[in-house]
Amino acid sequence: MGQVSPILEFKNVSKIYHGKQAAIQNINLTIDQGDFVCLIGTSGSGKTTTMRMINRMLEPTSGEIFFKGQNLKKYDPVKLRRKIGYVIQNIGLIPHMTIYENITLVPRLLKWPAEKKRQQAHELIKLVELPVEFLERYPGELSGGQQQRIGVIRALAAEQDLILMDEPFGALDPITRESLQDLVKQLQEKLGKTVIFVTHDMDEALKLATKIVVMDQGKIMQAASPTELLRHPANQFVKKIIGEERLLQAKADITTARQIMLPDPVAITLDQSLKQAVELMRKRRVDTLLVIDNRRHLRGYLDLADLDSKYNRAKSLADLISTDLFTVYTDTLIRNSVDRILKEDVKYVPVVDHQGKLQGIVTRSSLIDLVYDIIWGNKEEQVSDNKGGEQ
Ligand SMILES: Nc1ncnc2c1ncn2[C@@H]1O[C@H](COP(=O)(O)OP(=O)(O)O)[C@@H](O)[C@H]1O
Ligand SMILES: [Mg+2]
Repeated sequence: MGQVSPILEFKNVSKIYHGKQAAIQNINLTIDQGDFVCLIGTSGSGKTTTMRMINRMLEPTSGEIFFKGQNLKKYDPVKLRRKIGYVIQNIGLIPHMTIYENITLVPRLLKWPAEKKRQQAHELIKLVELPVEFLERYPGELSGGQQQRIGVIRALAAEQDLILMDEPFGALDPITRESLQDLVKQLQEKLGKTVIFVTHDMDEALKLATKIVVMDQGKIMQAASPTELLRHPANQFVKKIIGEERLLQAKADITTARQIMLPDPVAITLDQSLKQAVELMRKRRVDTLLVIDNRRHLRGYLDLADLDSKYNRAKSLADLISTDLFTVYTDTLIRNSVDRILKEDVKYVPVVDHQGKLQGIVTRSSLIDLVYDIIWGNKEEQVSDNKGGEQ
């Protein structure tokens, strides 16, 4: 199976408005079918310019853009715009058209047969859970939130594969905004559309995007998945736009046991003698030993206290080991286990892979370091800020 070819590709694209400084400076970007791309950046960073070049409302000054493998210049602009949906701020519905006419605007331009348009309108209105009777109404007869929902389905109506949305929810109250984000995401996934969405809200981008493109002064600072962006912000600008707080939060959300574990914990194999166990403890100055078999599967632990009291009666390590171990996997997220680990009141937790082989230990103190980073790292900054303000 070959690679799926990207739906959209920018190659060294620049845009200069009549002799001014470049609004877009040599950007390269690949967008795959089914991606939900969020363009985020400060005002004037070139987001709208980028969008408008995609449907040829603007032409690049240099470089090339490919849509479905073909140079944009080869498309007839009018036909191209019918293949690419474009939603501007607030998804304006046309007031003197009924909801039906609004939804079927592009299909009408594409000269769909009446029956196909009717079917599509009915399907879409059901998708947003509004009654079919609403098709006959005018936008003014619907609530603001309902109009927005219609706007969203209109954008998705015409079987357009690529939809551009330029801050569509910018001016909405937070509740309407959230429900529309859910709707867009749900429909996008369900219908397999590719969406390019401009926002200046990182929460919105993190919620919606499969790929976030951070822009500053006409350049792409970073294009990456939300997780990748949080995990490895490319530079100071990206860090700033993500926000300190979110980065710290993300640290707990994405840190795995493997990342903070100490490798090579003190361990002994089952076939060694009690005497060897005692010597190892003494030498490494530990009061417990992890016990593994010859293939490094974790079998239990040996406690100095047990060893001491039962030494004379036991014949082998197997008689003495405790098997009631609490372990985590290498890929366990710290967020999901930190409470449990701290509550267990143990000094460390063994880390195993999915075959049960010992990989390391997470110590209580390394966890506490991480927790302090997250909880206190922030507070300290605020405290010193306050002090600065009072002086
Ligand atoms: N029609 C235009 N003529 C001249 N300069 C423009 C025009 N449109 C945008 N610009 C400039 O190009 C840069 C990028 O603008 P824009 O793409 O609208 O940014 P964004 O959408 O990220 O806020 C800005 O410096 C803006 O002033
Ligand atoms: Mg803009």
